[in-house]
Amino acid sequence: MEAHSHSVPNHHAHHRGFHGAFGLVAGVSFLFRRGPVAELAADLTGIGPDDHLVDIGCGPGAAVRVAVGRGASATGVDPATVMLRLGSIVTRSRRASYLEGTAESLPMPDASATVAWSLSAVHHWRDVDQGLAEVRRVLEPGGRFLATERQIRDASAPGRAGHGWTMPQAEAFASLCESAGLVDAKASSHSAGNSSILAVTAISLAPRGT
Ligand SMILES: C[S@@+](CC[C@H](N)C(=O)[O-])C[C@H]1O[C@@H](n2cnc3c(N)ncnc32)[C@H](O)[C@@H]1O
Repeated sequence: MEAHSHSVPNHHAHHRGFHGAFGLVAGVSFLFRRGPVAELAADLTGIGPDDHLVDIGCGPGAAVRVAVGRGASATGVDPATVMLRLGSIVTRSRRASYLEGTAESLPMPDASATVAWSLSAVHHWRDVDQGLAEVRRVLEPGGRFLATERQIRDASAPGRAGHGWTMPQAEAFASLCESAGLVDAKASSHSAGNSSILAVTAISLAPRGT
């Protein structure tokens, strides 16, 4: 990806993945901690009954369930089968589905979503440019894209203190959105529960190639 080396927004691109017992423990913890960010995503996108969401890196589906609760239909996509299984077990709606896939290869037809979001997951994408090309492909004209990450002060801080984005990293990601053909890309900061969250929003005017 092309962002400045000090602003790379996918610092977990080579994460070992959420498999086995580690994946199960992480997935269960995501079940209980992600409500405030999911509500923030729903508020920022204004998701409602006319929308179909693709949640990229959905984990066990907290934000899929919030979207469905607001009347939308939703497809959660994640490479980790343990996350998809947990999501399927705890989601009680015919308007929700879960598919195995990655940001770089979304298992969705062109122009099939009105909203795409990726919550605390862009930092795991292996190829940000390819992921954004896929976002543009699957969004309908006028579709809304949102990415959120926890706000951190120092990207080089060890452990959890360095786990998220600084504002320069969010701004670098917004620039990458524009390079990918999305428009009106903006970074902004918000509170969700006890966390400070950075959000990047953008619009797709037309699918790739049109
Ligand atoms: C920190 S979790 C966030 C899960 C969920 N979005 C939430 O907010 O609870 C990051 C998720 O990204 C997924 N992930 C990892 N690599 C990915 C990729 N290349 N494309 C999409 N998702 C990916 C992981 O499996 C994991 O479920």
